[in-house]
Amino acid sequence: MAGPRKLAAGNWKMNGVLASLAEIDQLLAAFPEPRSEVLICPPATLIHPMTGRIAGGAIQVGSQNCHMAENGAHTGELSAGQLRDVGASYVILGHSERRADQGESDQIVHDKAVAAYQAGLVAIICVGETESQRDAETTLDVIAAQMAGSIPDRATAQNTVIAYEPVWAIGTGRTPSEAQIAQVHAFMRQNLATRFPDALAMRLLYGGSVKSSNAGAIFDIPNVDGALVGGASLKAADFGPIIAALDAA
Ligand code: PGA
Repeated sequence: MAGPRKLAAGNWKMNGVLASLAEIDQLLAAFPEPRSEVLICPPATLIHPMTGRIAGGAIQVGSQNCHMAENGAHTGELSAGQLRDVGASYVILGHSERRADQGESDQIVHDKAVAAYQAGLVAIICVGETESQRDAETTLDVIAAQMAGSIPDRATAQNTVIAYEPVWAIGTGRTPSEAQIAQVHAFMRQNLATRFPDALAMRLLYGGSVKSSNAGAIFDIPNVDGALVGGASLKAADFGPIIAALDAA
């Protein structure tokens, strides 16, 4: 029953300085050959030093954002090609914090994903409902609209990962029930199957308050191929057990 290779992805958000690379040393020592793919998306300042530190070890490095243009007059922005140039292999796109703080629309996320493909980066496209949308029982409609608008037609299992991150579960310590996660992930799989021939091989991550104590149960849910982890990815002591749980799933 070989499904797609699972993915444990850490999103450091706006946390971490050069001294934080010591966490990477610990992860490399603890997981010389993980069964799962392990990815850290640090702040942009740490992408290059982190890839240098990993030097052939079993951790991938990604960005938390990219611009949709290849280059040009966009002060303060970074292109997918520039990120690739310093060793990134993934980019998180459409995280709810960026959708909320930077007003990123589905169209913007879509265009950034196309730029990521062109540069050879794998796009992790995030979708998820707010608490009021869940209360209004529009969760699946919201997810369907975000998927339709954000995922380019060129998406494949090789260049795209989808992360389901309920906005109300991010950084709150609250998680959906296993049945709720199972429902959304099954829905996402079916939705992808209407557009992409390799939908079964596309990895679907769950994100939002994943920690060592709930990771094992979440990884047992059908159609969950890994996790996108925020707070619990900052320390090797917290992220390590999550990688171990995914390796065991
Ligand atoms: P959290 O964040 O694990 O801290 O809830 C998840 C995310 O935003 O990807």
